[in-house]
Parts: sequence; structure tokens; C-alpha cells
Amino acid sequence: MAVIADRCPHIQVTVVDLNESRIAAWNNSDLKQLPVYEPGLDEVVARARGRNLHFSTGVNDAIASADMVFISVNTPTKQKGVGAGQASDLRWVEACARQVAQYAKGHTVVVEKSTLPVRTAAAIKAILDAREPKSVVSENIPTFSVLSNPEFLAEGTAIHDLEQPDRVLIGGSNTEAIEALATIYSHWVPNQKILRTNLWSSELSKLTANAFLAQRISSINSVAALCEATGADVQEVALAIGTDSRIGLKFLNAGPGFGGSCFQKDILNLVYLSRYFGLPEVATYWEQVIGLNNWQQTRISRLLVQRLFGTVTGKRLAILGFAFKANTNDTRESPAIRISLDLLEEGAQLAIHDPKVTTTQIAADLGKAPSDPSLDLQSEGTWHSVNNVVDAVQGADAVLILTEWDQYRELDWPILARRMRTPAWVFDTRSVVEPYQIAEAGLLLWQLGSGIDQGNL
Ligand code: UDX
Repeated sequence: MAVIADRCPHIQVTVVDLNESRIAAWNNSDLKQLPVYEPGLDEVVARARGRNLHFSTGVNDAIASADMVFISVNTPTKQKGVGAGQASDLRWVEACARQVAQYAKGHTVVVEKSTLPVRTAAAIKAILDAREPKSVVSENIPTFSVLSNPEFLAEGTAIHDLEQPDRVLIGGSNTEAIEALATIYSHWVPNQKILRTNLWSSELSKLTANAFLAQRISSINSVAALCEATGADVQEVALAIGTDSRIGLKFLNAGPGFGGSCFQKDILNLVYLSRYFGLPEVATYWEQVIGLNNWQQTRISRLLVQRLFGTVTGKRLAILGFAFKANTNDTRESPAIRISLDLLEEGAQLAIHDPKVTTTQIAADLGKAPSDPSLDLQSEGTWHSVNNVVDAVQGADAVLILTEWDQYRELDWPILARRMRTPAWVFDTRSVVEPYQIAEAGLLLWQLGSGIDQGNL
């Protein structure tokens, strides 16, 4: 919405939320305090806020005065009831639709921005159309068109992805509504990149795009394991296959498994829908993408323990990176969570470093308060967070790199090595270190997808 406001100064954009503190944070004069860390977002907000971009808790008024309402709420995986663990929880989408139905005036275009299961638009339309007319005078009866306009931005590159999208997808049946939305995007997106489809294609395309991307990651991660076993190198293999223009080079980075708010949730949703529509083979096919991703995470903690002589109980380990990828403070479904929990279960003492993730967030993700490292020297299964890498590696037997933050590419390994307990290991799941630098510092290296394993030399 900030980018729409930035690119279309003639359109008034009001972002509303029931959460007062969140809206207050969006209105904070200190742009460093915005609730979302996203490179470049602060500049966009600075340009548009107060001009034609507003943040408010006045939900009903904003609905009443809007020509177009974007529903952009969470659709997490259901935790209980029918479809628990797979289907999307649509309670917030439904609540929004009901609120829009109640307060909208005149004709309102309702745009699904949240990622939704196929055919949700029908449910939204049914709720909107069920609004009881307040008066018999026909022009007072609100009318609605529903569009699907899924968002393909990735975190960390969101502003770039929005300003120069590969495509914008608009699904719907009402041509006038579709063109009204297309006109907004056409202020900065070339018309040939604005795809118009029917509602169901648009809804399904979002789930499928994420499923395809996640599938590439699981595919390359499966190959990484094979590389380790055979002496091949996954980076060389990725380059060799990715230079085939039909395959392409993007999304072929092997790593600790995909995280983030979308991939797992959307695939689970796809699996659920496939079963619902009587297609169990399709469901099983996509389920494997998640199965491989889970395995990738557990195998990393397992092989780390193996190389540290079969036990990490009471040993200090430095975890570098907790966000699900670089350039974000988001930890949703981050592989670091499961891997850290496995290592805590094994009794390790973890010193966790991440340039953007807060201690409070890590505590919430691990379900466990941090310990005081100065008091708990002998403890097992504890963690604390540190502000710099030098403190993280103090007394550690191993460093485990889980997020590809740029600063981890430039570490001074000889200095770090002196603080560690020998034989000391570097486990690099993101291929950010140069093997010769690790060797020169006298450290042992395990690099994901590399057939050269110093533990086996
Ligand atoms: C994703 C989609 O890319 C985006 O189009 C959609 O709108 C939302 O979901 P996001 O979750 O922000 O975006 O991040 P993305 O860059 O896709 O990375 C997802 C996960 O895959 C991260 O954990 C990342 O580290 C991992 N990944 C990505 C790899 O392991 N290897 C790769 O080659 C690429």
C-alpha cells in the first residue's frame, strides 16, 4: 500500500488495523521504529505518509469512504478442527468481509490481497451480498465486486519486487473492476505485465507459484545431500543445471530448508485442497516437498552432533542467524527454530546472534526464556543471545551459520578461532564462508552440499 501511495499521489491510501500500538508504530516519526524491517520501506513511507498515505484505527470510516478495499490479513494454517495442520484459517478474512459488508457505501471493489485457498472469493462475495438492505431506496444499497490480486513480493526485496514486478495478477469476472485496479498499477507497471485471469486461476496461481519455488529448494537440497555423499559440489551442480535456460539459475541455493510465512503454509493448503477435491496423488506429490524440507532441518542438527563426537551436552555452540533469510527480522518457520530446538534437546548451550531478530522474538520462537551465561556456566539445554559474533563464539566447539547475512561473509576467522575450543568446527549451511579461510584459521569445516567433508578426511 505504501508503494501504491508513493506511485499514485492522486490516490488516498488509508491502512487500517485494530491494533492501536501497531498503527502508532506506523505513525512513529522515527522511521527506524516502523513495525516491519524491510530495506527501502522507510524512504517510501517518508515520502507518502501524511500526503496520501495514512495509518489509522478508524476501520469503519475508512471502509465507508473507500472505493476499493484490500483485504490483507493473516491466513495462517488452522490449528484445530476440520483441516487442522493444513487448511488455511480464514476467520480474519471472514471478519473483514463482514465488516466491509456492514460499513461500505455505494459500489466497492473488494480485493483479496491475502493468500487464500481457491474459491474463497465465492465465500467473500456471499458474505458481501448477504448484507440486508437498510432502505428500500435502491441507490443506498451497497454493491460489491470481488477481485483476487495476490502478492508475489519476497521479504527483504519487497520494495524492488513491488516497483519492478515480473507480473501483476488480477483475477475477477467484472471487467470494470479489473480495469479500475489495473489502472492503479499501470502508473508504474507496463500493461503487458498486468495479467488478467478468472478468479480461480488467480487464487490458484499464488499457491502454485509458491509451491513451485519451494519445490526447487527441496529439489536442490535433496541433491545437496547426494553431493555430500558422492564428492560432488552442489554449487557446481546448480550452476551446471541452472545455465540451461529452461531451468534457470534462480532458487537453486541449497540451504537449511525454506522458511518464511508462505511456502509451507501454501503447500499445506494445496495438499488439503487436492485431498478435498478427491486428488490424493496430487496431495502426496506436494507433501513430499515439505517432507524433504523437514528432513533437511533435522539432518543438519544430527550431523553436527555426530561430528562433535556424538554429543553436544553442555557444549557451547554459536548460532549465526535466526531470521528465515537475510535482510529481514522475520523468523516465521525459520529453519533456525527447529535446528536450535533439536540442539537444546541434545543439551547444548547456544549463543545466538542475528543482526535484526530481537531476544524477545527468539524466546517466543523457542518457547524458552534466555539464561544468564555468566551464572549458568555448567548448564545444559540453555540459550542466550549476543550482539556480536566475537561474543557468540567464546568457548564454542562449533559455529553454525543458518542465515546468509552479508556480515557473515566477512568474518575474521583467525580472531574467532582463537576464542574457540579445539578441535573447533564451522558448519556452514548457506555457503557463505571461503573454505581456504577456515582452513587457514585452523578450523574444521562442514559445508552443506560440499562433498569435501573434513570429518571424513
Ligand atoms: C516467498 C516468495 O518468493 C514470494 O514470491 C511470495 O510472495 C512469498 O513467499 P519469501 O518467503 O519472502 O517469499 O522469501 P524467499 O526469498 O522466497 O525465500 C523463502 C525461503 O526459501 C527462505 O527461507 C530462503 O532462505 C529459502 N531459499 C530461497 C533457499 O533456501 N534457497 C533459494 O535458492 C531461495
